[in-house]
Amino acid sequence: MNIMASQNIQRLEMGVFNELLEAKRRLERGGMEMIDLSIGSPDTPPPDFVKEEIIRHASSDTNYGYTMGAIPTFNGKVAAFYEDRYGVPLNPRAEVLQLIGSQDGLAHLATALVDPGDIVLVPDPGYPIFEVGVHIAGGEPWRMPLREEFGFLPRLDHIPKEIAERAKMMVLNYPANPVAALADQAFLEEAVRFARQNDILIVQDFTYSELVFDGQRAVSLLSVPGAKEVAVEFNSFSKTFNIAGCRVGYMAGNAEVLRIMATMMSHTQYGIFYPIQKAAEAALTKGGDFIRKQVALYQSRRDALTDALTNAGWNTAKPAATMYVWTRTPKGWLSSDFVFQLMEETGVVLTPGSAFGAEGEGFVRITLVQPEEKLREAAARIGGFLKT
Ligand SMILES: Cc1ncc(COP(=O)(O)O)c(C=O)c1O
Repeated sequence: MNIMASQNIQRLEMGVFNELLEAKRRLERGGMEMIDLSIGSPDTPPPDFVKEEIIRHASSDTNYGYTMGAIPTFNGKVAAFYEDRYGVPLNPRAEVLQLIGSQDGLAHLATALVDPGDIVLVPDPGYPIFEVGVHIAGGEPWRMPLREEFGFLPRLDHIPKEIAERAKMMVLNYPANPVAALADQAFLEEAVRFARQNDILIVQDFTYSELVFDGQRAVSLLSVPGAKEVAVEFNSFSKTFNIAGCRVGYMAGNAEVLRIMATMMSHTQYGIFYPIQKAAEAALTKGGDFIRKQVALYQSRRDALTDALTNAGWNTAKPAATMYVWTRTPKGWLSSDFVFQLMEETGVVLTPGSAFGAEGEGFVRITLVQPEEKLREAAARIGGFLKT
C-alpha cells in the first residue's frame, strides 16, 4: 500500500531541529561533553507549592477521570491574574479558554478559522508553529520581516495593500521568540488600528509575558482599547512557572473566536489532568514572588553570557526579554555552518537563525537554560573556536 501524507502535511519540512538533535546525539555517543543551549525548556524546577498541589491531588483516586475542559474555578483565576498584572478585565465565561499548552492552541487556531487559500501574516523569523499551523489548515503564510533596524517589529505600512486586504489573521509574538524583542504600546495600538482597518484577527502569543528585564513590563495587547474586537492573546505556564511538561495554557480575548475554538476542541480534547489544573491555579494565585525570582535568574544569566561572549570577542547585546539571546553570527558566518561547525568542535549547541525563517539567516539563537558557570564555559569554548 502506498501511504502518502495529505498535501497540507507534505508541505511541512522536518527541519534543522531534527538534524541538530541527531548531530548532538552522535557527538554525545562519541564521548563529547555537550552544552545544549538550543531548546527553550526551563532547566530549573517549578515552585514547591505548584509541585505540592500536583502531588496532593494526584494521590486521590477520584482525580483520574476526564475533566472535559477547565475546572469551574480556572477561568476566574486567569481573569484575576490578567486584571492584576496587565489591568485587563476579562469575562471568565466568554473571554478565557483553557488550552493543552499554547502550542496546541496555536497549532489548531488556523484549522478553526482559516480556509484553503486564506492568507495569514506571520513573523519572519518566527516560532515555527505559527507558519506550520497555517500550512496544516491549507492557508498561505505571508512572512512579515522582523529587522533589527525596526526593533524587530514588523513594518505594517510595508505590507502590500492587496495582501492586507486578503489576510485573515496576523500572528504577533511579543516578547518574541527567537528575536527576544519587546513591543511597545505605540506598536500594539498601530497593530489594532491596522487589524480594524483591514478586518484581520490578531493572534498575539504572550508566552514570555513575564520574562522581561531591567525593571520593564510587557504590555498585554488586550489592554489596547478596542483590541478584544480584533484580537486573541495566548499565554502559557511553561516558561513563567517551569512546568513545560505539564501542558497547560490558555487563550483570552475575542469571545467569538474562543467560542469557535471551544466547539472544535469539544470534539478533539477531553481536558487536562485535574492535578495539573489545580497546580496551574496555584501558580496564578501565589506565583508573584516566584515570577520575580525567575526574572532575576534569567537577567543574571543573560548578563553572564553576553558579557562573557563580548569578552571572548563576539560582541553580543543584552536582550530586553525572554530566555533567548538573538545575535549576529561572528565574522559573517552563515547561521547553519556556524552552528554545526561550532557543535562539532566544541560541543556547544546553538540554534541557527535560519531555522526560524529566511530573515533569520546571519543570526543565531542562544537559550539561557543552563547555570551561569555553564554559560561562561560555553562562552569560553566559543571564544577558543573563534580564535582558530
Ligand atoms: C513563542 C512560543 N509560543 C509557544 C510555545 C509553547 O508553549 P506551551 O508550552 O504553552 O505550549 C513556545 C515554546 O517554546 C514558544 O517559544
